[in-house]
Amino acid sequence: MTVIRGATTIEKDCKEEISAAVKELLDEVFSANSLQKEDVSAFVFSLTSDVHSYHPAKAARECGYDFAPLFAAIEPEIDGGLKLCIRLMLLTELASKNAVKHIYQRGAKVLRKDISERLNIALDGPAGSGKSTVAKILAKDYNILYLDTGAMYRACALKALRSGINPKDVVAVEKMLLDLDLKVEYKEGKQHTILDGEDVSSAIRENAVSMAASNISAHHAVRVKMVEMQREIAKSMSCVLDGRDIGSAVLPDAKYKFFITADSKVRATRRFKELAERGETVDFEKLHAEIVARDKQDSEREFSPLVCAEDAIVIDTSELDIDGVVAAIKKQIQSKI
Ligand code: DC
Repeated sequence: MTVIRGATTIEKDCKEEISAAVKELLDEVFSANSLQKEDVSAFVFSLTSDVHSYHPAKAARECGYDFAPLFAAIEPEIDGGLKLCIRLMLLTELASKNAVKHIYQRGAKVLRKDISERLNIALDGPAGSGKSTVAKILAKDYNILYLDTGAMYRACALKALRSGINPKDVVAVEKMLLDLDLKVEYKEGKQHTILDGEDVSSAIRENAVSMAASNISAHHAVRVKMVEMQREIAKSMSCVLDGRDIGSAVLPDAKYKFFITADSKVRATRRFKELAERGETVDFEKLHAEIVARDKQDSEREFSPLVCAEDAIVIDTSELDIDGVVAAIKKQIQSKI
């Protein structure tokens, strides 16, 4: 007898979510393990006590998994254990124990705070590659923190601009760093960048700050300070970090590293739309030239340049939609968990 384990989570205790999650889990267990109906001896589900709205065995039967006995029961509560979780033990005679693929979806395994490993996901790539959108979705789905490291360099740049300091002037910037009061806070899961006590989350997104951030991020002293803060955060909790040097310099030992890229015209179009949505109008050709210049500067700087870490998985998003990118990343993570 071989047991294939699986688990998934739902966001809301309702019939639709339970049915969809059970189907997704069973479909993946079957396809990942190349199972046939006749291979299965029984399905055993267990649920955390906050799942009441629908019976997972019934959900399984309704989506075609009705060819073996189905059983479900409520689990005892575990302190710090994950919420709204459905677990599965599939009993089979055929699958070979060594080749079994256990399936954990929607952050199910990593959410076990009491037993899980810390999960750090490094997403690097140039401006406009889509990495921050992807990072936010991953953080939400896995219920972990999203740390936007670019926001930290942007805040340094904003301080320089506001203080009349040229972001390229290393001496002035180093002096400025001595009394830099920068904090990253989270409210309702959203990152807020606090500079000298002021929430500058919006101000740092202005286009004028982008090039200044690229300039200021080239200084060694700036990087040392920012990287120290980033490591501190990543050490204390599971998070997705996006930036330029996460996989190569900030967290070289991260287990999950991705390099997200896209054609520069595609990236300029994305940035153009993003700025337009915020009411900022810019000339497209100028924006494209700025993106190319920023790529060059970020890639050619001496300290921690934008590089694809040797062990990072490259994902080109030029012709992929966000769902496709997220699915590709989750598949990789799932295979390593
Ligand atoms: O991702 P972004 O556009 O918000 O980043 C702003 C600038 O900060 C970018 O041009 C390069 C720099 N940066 C960096 O050097 N290292 C990081 N980890 C993140 C951003």
